[in-house]
Amino acid sequence: MPRIIMGIESSCDETGVGLVRLHDDNTVELLADEVASSVDQHARFGGVVPEVASRAHLEAMVPTVERAFAKAGLKLSDVDAIAVTAGPGLAGALLVGVAAAKAYAAALDIPLYGVNHLAGHIAVDTLQHGPLPERCLALLVSGGHTQLLLVDDIASEITELGSTVDDAAGEAYDKVARVLGLPYPGGPPIDKAAKNGDGAAIAFPRGMTGPRDAKFDFSFSGLKTAVARWVEGAERRGEDIPVDDVAASFQEAVADVLTMKAIRAAKEHGVDTLVISGGVAANSRLSELAAERCAEAGITLRVPRPRLCTDNGAMIAALGAHVVAAGRPRASLDFSANPALPV
Ligand code: KG4
Ligand code: ZN
Repeated sequence: MPRIIMGIESSCDETGVGLVRLHDDNTVELLADEVASSVDQHARFGGVVPEVASRAHLEAMVPTVERAFAKAGLKLSDVDAIAVTAGPGLAGALLVGVAAAKAYAAALDIPLYGVNHLAGHIAVDTLQHGPLPERCLALLVSGGHTQLLLVDDIASEITELGSTVDDAAGEAYDKVARVLGLPYPGGPPIDKAAKNGDGAAIAFPRGMTGPRDAKFDFSFSGLKTAVARWVEGAERRGEDIPVDDVAASFQEAVADVLTMKAIRAAKEHGVDTLVISGGVAANSRLSELAAERCAEAGITLRVPRPRLCTDNGAMIAALGAHVVAAGRPRASLDFSANPALPV
């Protein structure tokens, strides 16, 4: 069975290359995790520009692979299998990673696996906290996704219980940051400002929490608009914007809805472990409130360290290792990326 697995990630604005070792007991050890980000090139546009991201992947791919091998003290010929993000993501960006993975797999004559980016965000937790229990719930919150997933087998069986009907949680952070005059990406500066504010200062709406709303779906567009309206109103009245309080109250609304629905889903599906991952999992209030509510409900909470939560190659390598361990068939060299790949 392949032992050293390289993972390649290029679905959005991060070029990630990870190397892991799959042990006999199916535990997966992290050997290297190198990321080159084009986030600075997108900052002035307030969001990722697909063309810019693709070109940046092209430039960063080979140097990032080389850095990962140097970090791990390995040679290319030490790799036994390659996993690459097949989707979902930006078409042009995915294409760069898939082409690179195919080239390495062909040159080294080793198996190639196309894997799902969303499953990767969950699999990465096994690098830090060990194997997942037989069944767990995952709350995936990033700039592109907000989903509640029931995980029976990380390599093959994941069921979507709900997702956002409009903006992703991270997207809402980025848009609210813009309204508040904070830099892109908005998550970290809002998190920081919120520490000095009062989360109960402004009662922002909790989207899709009404009795007739789909139980496990999310909506953040109304919240984003409510924040914008509130700020506009204050500006019209010539008042100073209490940025810290607005940030804290917005953040409280997001964390409240995410944790409320996750706990509800865990209870309804009889699951006792919750994994929270994706860029927004780095949010301090979200992890604090999740820890509080999970403890009350007797649920074990697993949150990978922030570095593993945001897009990286280690998550794809980790998922690749689980896919290899499960004996899933390798991909043929003519497989294509799928920007809309379902989980
Ligand atoms: O997972 P990720 O790196 O990329 C995607 O796949 O989207 O997530 C990026 C998102 C951005 O929207 C960013 O604002 C958000 O994660 N983010 C945060 C925090 N750190 C990053 N959101 C809230 N609080 C944070 N501390
Ligand atoms: Zn992601």
